[in-house]
Amino acid sequence: MNDLEKKLADLELQLSNQEKLAALGMLSAGIVHEIQNPLNFVINFSKLSQKLLKDIEDVLSEVNNSLPNDSKEELDDILSDLKDNMSRIEENGNRVSSIVKGILLYSRGNEEFTPTNLKDLVHEYIWLSYHALRANNKNFNVSIQENYEECVPLLNIIPQDVSRAVLNIMNNACYAVLCKARETSDTSYAPTIKIDVKKEDGKVKLIFEDNGIGIPDEVCKNLFTPFFTTKPIGKGTGLGLSISKSIIEGKHRGTLEVETKVNEYTRFTITLPIT
Ligand SMILES: Nc1ncnc2c1ncn2[C@@H]1O[C@H](COP(=O)(O)OP(=O)(O)OP(=O)(O)O)[C@@H](O)[C@H]1O
Ligand SMILES: [Mg+2]
Repeated sequence: MNDLEKKLADLELQLSNQEKLAALGMLSAGIVHEIQNPLNFVINFSKLSQKLLKDIEDVLSEVNNSLPNDSKEELDDILSDLKDNMSRIEENGNRVSSIVKGILLYSRGNEEFTPTNLKDLVHEYIWLSYHALRANNKNFNVSIQENYEECVPLLNIIPQDVSRAVLNIMNNACYAVLCKARETSDTSYAPTIKIDVKKEDGKVKLIFEDNGIGIPDEVCKNLFTPFFTTKPIGKGTGLGLSISKSIIEGKHRGTLEVETKVNEYTRFTITLPIT
């Protein structure tokens, strides 16, 4: 492939990704709300049913001694299957719910460009992501290194949107170092995420670098494709980076770029024009 053909293929991919996101926006015009309501029923009733199963277990344990052993075992098996089924329903309901929420957030209207202090915005959202990670993984720790240049001016941005991109990228970084910590046999591995906000060539750069699992080529190709994810069911929607790219490049006329080396590092750079 020569350079021109490569560029064309790139543009075609971008266009098809944009079309998918545009379709998502249209979908949300009404359907998404209609999905969320019945979905809440599914999730809440599966939770309730799990509680009821627990109640049945309690009752059974009281009469347990009066039952023949065979029946006891059979009942235990059935109960345990039912519990598994119920928690799967809840898990997948939550998965659909997070996709729906993602679509809603993406297509919500009334957004205003506001002069914003990026340092405060970035600081707030990286720690939000950090605490979410810690809440679910109590024994895991990661060193967060922040470096903010004083000369970065206020930028005219849509704060909710840019914070969404920061959160997405930071969540991915946290996930990547967590995975590496679980996989590696290197006992000296120190999970680290570095965040830089600086002014360069008349633009502002936000750099997020993690020393996690890195991204292999075949994943890199699809990084910004809506719904592309390598995470297990229930863990990711695959919308994070495609929406972040559309926020940064579409709405803010900036760029979102990635550099990575498998098993060593991943660096996402958001570049925003100073307007
Ligand atoms: N910092 C990173 N290190 C390693 N892999 C990454 C990193 N960031 C993204 N990826 C890869 O890119 C894929 C797509 O990321 P994206 O944020 O779009 O979706 P997701 O994280 O899978 O789902 P969601 O953002 O909805 O939780 C991820 O599944 C992962 O394989
Ligand atoms: Mg993500």
